[in-house]
Amino acid sequence: MSPPDCLIRPLTEGDFAQAVALTDTMDWGLGEDDFSFMKLMEPEGCFVAVFGGKVVGLITSISFGSVGWVGNVIVQSAHRGEGIGRELVERALDYLEKKGVTTVGLYAYQNVVRFYEQFGFIKDRDFVWLVCPEAAWKGTPASSLSQSRLEDLLKLDEELFGAPRRRLLKPIFEGSHGLCRGIIQNGRLVAYVMGSKGKSAEIGPWACLRGYEQESLSLFQSLADEVKGLEVFVGVPAWRSEVVDFLLGIGFKKRFILPRMYRGPPLPDEGVLAIESLERG
Ligand SMILES: CC(C)(COP(=O)(O)OP(=O)(O)OC[C@H]1O[C@@H](n2cnc3c(N)ncnc32)[C@H](O)[C@@H]1OP(=O)(O)O)[C@@H](O)C(=O)NCCC(=O)NCCS
Repeated sequence: MSPPDCLIRPLTEGDFAQAVALTDTMDWGLGEDDFSFMKLMEPEGCFVAVFGGKVVGLITSISFGSVGWVGNVIVQSAHRGEGIGRELVERALDYLEKKGVTTVGLYAYQNVVRFYEQFGFIKDRDFVWLVCPEAAWKGTPASSLSQSRLEDLLKLDEELFGAPRRRLLKPIFEGSHGLCRGIIQNGRLVAYVMGSKGKSAEIGPWACLRGYEQESLSLFQSLADEVKGLEVFVGVPAWRSEVVDFLLGIGFKKRFILPRMYRGPPLPDEGVLAIESLERG
């Protein structure tokens, strides 16, 4: 049970600065713009725990049809063990259920797997979070995907990730500053990579149809000029050793291993080379 005067309510714009300060305690590197984006994506699906007028807990969620994700789950260290984390997770799950979500996914630290198991989450496969401190790899230049390919990309993404993600991918595509590229074979999009950049760059989603894995590595490498000199982050399936080895070979380092967890029917894996983000799947 959380303390009676701890209120769980939807995240508002006025909470962003405190949300950043809270997540900074875990070095998640989030800014107010990240919370603004989450709020834009799921206006009623992000929650804060407020105690004595201060934000002491946070969770975000997002829904794509029958698939939803939760992320940014955190309680201020002084208030852990008081039932606040449980209330936040239950509130987000309740919200997602009402939206028609049947599968909920998340990426967990190893030491919180048991925390999530109490809500019915099952530990699935491992993902690796990699960081390239200062991108300097070389790649053959490739052109960005044209706007006319957006519908093809959304269709392929839905096929591979098992969820309609237009709401998320369209703004990334339109603001991607040249980080959105694809492979077209006989007029058909068979692989793509997306990303966003500011002071650093985050690459993902990155996915392909079976048989195009090798070409997809070159596709990733073709982002060289776009991310040169930046810190670059990417989260990839740990069991795809060819992808992990490729990234290590061009200057990435393993930051941590995160088990994916899910509740409800399993999440698909086929063709996924990199996730979009740790909080949105
Ligand atoms: C994980 C976290 C959100 C839990 O929040 P919390 O408010 O301390 O959790 P609660 O007090 O609601 O705990 C609810 C139950 O989970 C248990 N629990 C809490 N943390 C746990 C853990 N790491 N492993 C196993 N069980 C845990 C509690 O003992 C409690 O069990 P009980 O109901 O049988 O007493 C919090 O520890 C935290 O912010 N950690 C740092 C950030 C982080 O790692 N976030 C997860 C990212 S994947």
